[in-house]
Amino acid sequence: MPKLVAAQFIDTLLQRAELVDIIDKQVPLKKAGTNYKGLCPFHNEKTPSFTVYPQQQTYHCYGCGAHGNAITFLREHNNLDFNEAVEELASSCGLEVEYDESIEAQPSQPKSDDLYTVLQQVSQFYQQQLQHTPQALDYFQQRGLSAEIIDTYELGYAPQAWDSVLKQFGTDAQHIQQLIDVGLLLEKQESQRRYDRFRHRVLFPIHDQKGRVIAFGGRVLDDSKPKYLNSPETPLFQKNHELYGWHLVKKQKDLQRVVIVEGYMDVAILAQFEVKNAVATLGTATSIEHLNRLFRVVPEIIFCFDGDAAGYKAAKRALEIALPVLFDGRQIRFAFLPDGDDPDSFVRQYGKTQFEAYLDQAKLLSTFLFEEYLLNDIDPAQPHTPESIANLKRTAEKNIIPLLEQLPKNSEYYRLMFKRLEEISANLGFEGANFKKSSKLTKNKQTQSEIKRASKSIPSLAEKALRLLIQMPSLAEEVEQLDKFQYVQDEKASLLIRLVEFIHRNPHVNTAIILEHWQDTKELNYLTSLSLHTHLLSEQEILQEFTSAMEQLQYCSSVRQRKHSLLEKIKQGIATASELQALEQLYKDEAQLFKLR
Ligand code: UTP
Ligand code: MN
Repeated sequence: MPKLVAAQFIDTLLQRAELVDIIDKQVPLKKAGTNYKGLCPFHNEKTPSFTVYPQQQTYHCYGCGAHGNAITFLREHNNLDFNEAVEELASSCGLEVEYDESIEAQPSQPKSDDLYTVLQQVSQFYQQQLQHTPQALDYFQQRGLSAEIIDTYELGYAPQAWDSVLKQFGTDAQHIQQLIDVGLLLEKQESQRRYDRFRHRVLFPIHDQKGRVIAFGGRVLDDSKPKYLNSPETPLFQKNHELYGWHLVKKQKDLQRVVIVEGYMDVAILAQFEVKNAVATLGTATSIEHLNRLFRVVPEIIFCFDGDAAGYKAAKRALEIALPVLFDGRQIRFAFLPDGDDPDSFVRQYGKTQFEAYLDQAKLLSTFLFEEYLLNDIDPAQPHTPESIANLKRTAEKNIIPLLEQLPKNSEYYRLMFKRLEEISANLGFEGANFKKSSKLTKNKQTQSEIKRASKSIPSLAEKALRLLIQMPSLAEEVEQLDKFQYVQDEKASLLIRLVEFIHRNPHVNTAIILEHWQDTKELNYLTSLSLHTHLLSEQEILQEFTSAMEQLQYCSSVRQRKHSLLEKIKQGIATASELQALEQLYKDEAQLFKLR
């Protein structure tokens, strides 16, 4: 079990470490005002959008959204786990890591590390079983997999029994629970009887980025159903995050592109044919997480789909998911195999060179988008008429613009795609259609009215104060009596109060430390986004804004307190007529002043 770093030590470390120096060693930074900028190491870009904030000790990439402090940087960039990152950071600051002995001693909650061990051991067991089961070995052999590939992919076999894993590994209640937690055992509700999930199937262990087994996919050896059975989602395994085969692909040198295919078998067979840059999604659609993970390493992703209707449908779905992460420097293409083929059958029939030639000719996302969503609707046999052209224009507005609006704004790609739409529309006969402007105008209107509606409410006051506080934690000193805020209790206000309390207890924290303390909470994303609002106010102005927001909140609280006590009196039947009137007035004031929801 890994040792737990003492919470206090993490604070000390984040206070001591100098983020700019740490990052600058690995990513050249240039000073820009009070901050530093460089080319983002987490995605491919040509103009720097990666910013380091020395005052906050945080970094943020306005291109891909990567964000964090010194510890997260070392974890993400140098691929370290939490303890390794802390150790590295500590040694660069000349500090000795302090561990929390008291927590380590508690055996009650099994830590996820034990679960990795369980999975690793079971995977080894399945691999041994494969070697002892000629029928299963034959199956792999028939499909053309060599002993070497079986070994590299750690392929295995689950015996034809209800209890092989249960007997071998479920030695006590705690182990049984762990096996249930990682999805290897199932439990019958009524009888509480436990049994193996995988029986008489060849197995593809699924690894995380670091090569640890986190789940399995199992295939039948014949035509029975279901063909594949996969581990359920567990604390270690989220289908949206993992890609089959990625732990091996990412080790390749000079990786230029990654191919996403549909099946485990495709990945293994492609590797058998020396195509070593293929990964598969796990029976789900590609997610933004998948794409970001790959784009951090390669500039190009090629989706390889079957050439049938289902393949085209899947490609459209992938396109729609991918648009928001297509920052400049990232490229997606689609390869459609001949109808009836999948990568496995194709590469076996035509070989590696042909397969790669197919990928080289894959369709650019831009081509595919305009074809699929607009041009394919055109019947070349029909003459262009004002009616048909007007129809096309409507299709473009309805189908294409909402897609293009998903692209990262401010990117060159966004601009060029709109330009392309204009070129195409000119060719089709509806030139002059100014798509971009019309869509932009409606957008702005919406957001402005939203802002108006939200202003002045308790949540927006709390948010304003939070935003200032997280960027300048010393503002907490201005808040003295926290009980004065007792009656403003919505989510944001209570987060604000907790943050003030936290800073009172830890007076010298910076933004990075605060975010580290909120690390595994649901509020982290929200706080992170607030910390990014750079404002152009002087310190004096920040102080004024903050105190004014806090005063308004305090006033809200006092109004509510009075209301509360008047209501109590009414309940008890001791309210006077003037008190009833006062209550009515309070309701009016409150509604007018704070536009409460
Ligand atoms: P395919 O049906 O395309 O299988 O499923 P395949 O990879 O060509 O399999 P072989 O060649 O017959 O062995 C593609 C992927 O969809 C998921 C699996 O992840 C599989 O690799 N799948 C498919 C399931 O999860 N369950 C199923 O029953 C079938
Ligand atoms: Mn197949």
